[in-house]
Amino acid sequence: MRSYIIAGNWKMNKTVAESIALAEEIVAKTKGISKTEVVIAPTYLAAAKVADVIKGSNVKLAVQDIHWKDQGAYTGKVSVDMVKEIGAEYVIIGHSEQRQYFHETDETVNLKAKKVLGAGLKPIICIGETLEERNGGKLESVLTAQVEGAYKDISGEDALKTVIAYEPVWAIGTGVVATDEQAQEAQRYVRSLVAKLYGESTAEALRIQYGGSMNPGNAAGLLAQKDIDGGLIGGASLKADSFFSIIDAAEKR
Ligand code: PGA
Repeated sequence: MRSYIIAGNWKMNKTVAESIALAEEIVAKTKGISKTEVVIAPTYLAAAKVADVIKGSNVKLAVQDIHWKDQGAYTGKVSVDMVKEIGAEYVIIGHSEQRQYFHETDETVNLKAKKVLGAGLKPIICIGETLEERNGGKLESVLTAQVEGAYKDISGEDALKTVIAYEPVWAIGTGVVATDEQAQEAQRYVRSLVAKLYGESTAEALRIQYGGSMNPGNAAGLLAQKDIDGGLIGGASLKADSFFSIIDAAEKR
């Protein structure tokens, strides 16, 4: 059985002080959580402080990106060893905002995924189609290219350490959530792509999150879908109450 993974992507929100306060609230609320994996992804600036807050708790640390190089003249970037040192366990890769605004491609997603896995951390690999692509009948071809690109030269053993976040771009930050059926259909397709690459048993074990306007009102319905193993949550992860409601919905399933 796959366990649920609920991850909060804080994006470019919260000062360091605000991040510490939110992390403290989440730690307190999740004390009784035992089945659901809870992850938070603050900004780089807050990550080390948040790591201290969540030490020994049920909450794990992610960062929102890394560079695939070890070190050097890459202004503005952070390496995987740096985030490993502070205790991050997950790294979000290929988020649609990275793809849209910062030239992320399937090739750089692949370089980053290999770097993260090589360091013993786990990538959360984001994929998803735009509304134009969906309406143009390209859903499957877009997801295929993204999955095949991300997993190029990654072994089955390593693939099992990854999480995929299916995030339809038109649902991110828009309040327009995919219906349970739309999400399930796309996620089943993504799982079939993993099966093609690595076989059925890996595909059955690999966790696929849904992301895009997930909130306390729609989480239970989405999480009830067979191929939805959690959520990558933006807006609703910025308040402890709403984030916890989603965690609770997963925990109660
Ligand atoms: P949202 O963001 O929940 O605010 O739509 C999700 C994401 O981008 O990961």
